[in-house]
Amino acid sequence: MPQVSLCFTGHIEGELGLGPLQGTDSRWQRPDQERSDQATFSQRREANAPMAEKTRAATMDKITALCKRRGFVFPGSEIYGGLANTWDYGPLGVELKNAIKQLWWKTFVQRRRDMVGLDGGILMHPRVWEASGHVVNFNDPLVDCKTCKSRFRADHLIEEKLGIHAEGKTPDEMTALLREANLPCPKCGNRTLTDARQFNMMFSTTIGPVEESGTKVYLRPETAQAMFVQYKNILNTGRVKLPFGIGQIGKAFRNEITPGNFIFRDIEFEQMEIEYFARPEETADLFDAWIDAMWNWVDLIGLRRENVHVREHAKEELSHYSSRTIDFEYLFPEPMNWKELYGLASRTDFDLARHQEYSGEDLTYFDQPTGQRFLPHVIEPTFGVDRTFLVLLLDAYDEEETVDVNGKPDTRIVLRLHPRVAPYKAAILPLMKKPELAAVAHELFDRIEAETSYLVDYDETANIGKRYRRQDEIGTPFCITVDYDTLEDRAVTIRDRDTTSQQRVAIDEVVNFLREHVG
Ligand code: GAP
Repeated sequence: MPQVSLCFTGHIEGELGLGPLQGTDSRWQRPDQERSDQATFSQRREANAPMAEKTRAATMDKITALCKRRGFVFPGSEIYGGLANTWDYGPLGVELKNAIKQLWWKTFVQRRRDMVGLDGGILMHPRVWEASGHVVNFNDPLVDCKTCKSRFRADHLIEEKLGIHAEGKTPDEMTALLREANLPCPKCGNRTLTDARQFNMMFSTTIGPVEESGTKVYLRPETAQAMFVQYKNILNTGRVKLPFGIGQIGKAFRNEITPGNFIFRDIEFEQMEIEYFARPEETADLFDAWIDAMWNWVDLIGLRRENVHVREHAKEELSHYSSRTIDFEYLFPEPMNWKELYGLASRTDFDLARHQEYSGEDLTYFDQPTGQRFLPHVIEPTFGVDRTFLVLLLDAYDEEETVDVNGKPDTRIVLRLHPRVAPYKAAILPLMKKPELAAVAHELFDRIEAETSYLVDYDETANIGKRYRRQDEIGTPFCITVDYDTLEDRAVTIRDRDTTSQQRVAIDEVVNFLREHVG
């Protein structure tokens, strides 16, 4: 029987070891509390990938390729030649997405006593979208090229080609800028762009067997409206009192003129939204509290703070319902630069007032402490699931120059995802495909499965070095190797993804180890 001995600090595949960890970094501490597990993760990551000293490894092309290679995201309907700008989330993608959604739900709905949840329908009464203003206002300005028939967002074209921030300008104002610059079509080069005109972004469909006599309905372009429409039912059944919020996760659909940049701008995507109802005089302070809560979320999922900033919307940029909006923007790789990741808007009583007017239902709130009746005002923190997914990968992607077992230069691709969001929290790897090792490995797998909620991978194919590399590339924070010594000492080797350091841990302690390090 072959005996392979693993020592405490050695490296099974001869990976490069890294020096001792450096001091803590305050950027990683949440504003309201220090998290020792967060600091540990950040220490490890900073020790291995000091961003100031090395250029950022991630590009959109590399992330798109990794997503396909490792089963995170596949192009939609690929065997039929694909359907432009549609994507399917594969086995690892669905786990990462679920990890994001579960963490968000726990953080913002289950752990807060001022929040309740909702799962509204995608199809709603068509009047909802008249009341919300989407039928009239949910437009993007577009220009067509008369020669090659390509279509572009007028505001994006002005921003990219003329360096003028154009969001919020009217089509006439955009047309004037385009005419003055006499811009060529970015695709065919002819100066044959049309004037800017508005294009409604809602997808419609029909309820009923015959299109002509059926009811035209829209696929919801945001999850928000169900929370306004069901506000009264929640008030009557949920035993909620101001200020309180409703949270929802679900799909939204937008007929984007220029989707793209992988999953950054999709036509079908998921949102995690909150409508937070409050007394009008409370909203300014609550807006600030929600800024802090959103920063806490950024920290919780392990994004680097230097890649996120807040941008206040100028007056002319504000949506029709908003009195104040800020965007949390993320620094995407060139040429995208800073783009919206999340939004926070003060929606006043616009939505409730409109739904009250259009439905004829009384949506006022009776405030017992003051004896007053009024329409609550609303703060809306909104988060895109797919954008969170994308920035987690961009932020975590790293390439490390190393040497292989033969001493040749090699590149280790590693996703330094926070363990909290990593699809697999650990992988169990019997050193060889042998029944006696598999028996112990299965026992450990079953134990983790029974005692925690962590998803754990099991892999006994290929050599151990290749298996480590696969786990590095999919962001698994810990590899647990079962070897022949395990049969004697009932201990396993746990390898840290970020440092590649290894330590021997008793089988009985593995669950505790994971609880301590995953969080
Ligand atoms: N209820 C307000 C609302 O829908 P939004 O800024 O249009 O506001 C909220 O969208 C979030 O949804 C964005 O911050 C972004 O994360 C995500 N999102 C919006 N459009 C998207 C698209 N076409 N593809 C992917 N995510 C999108």
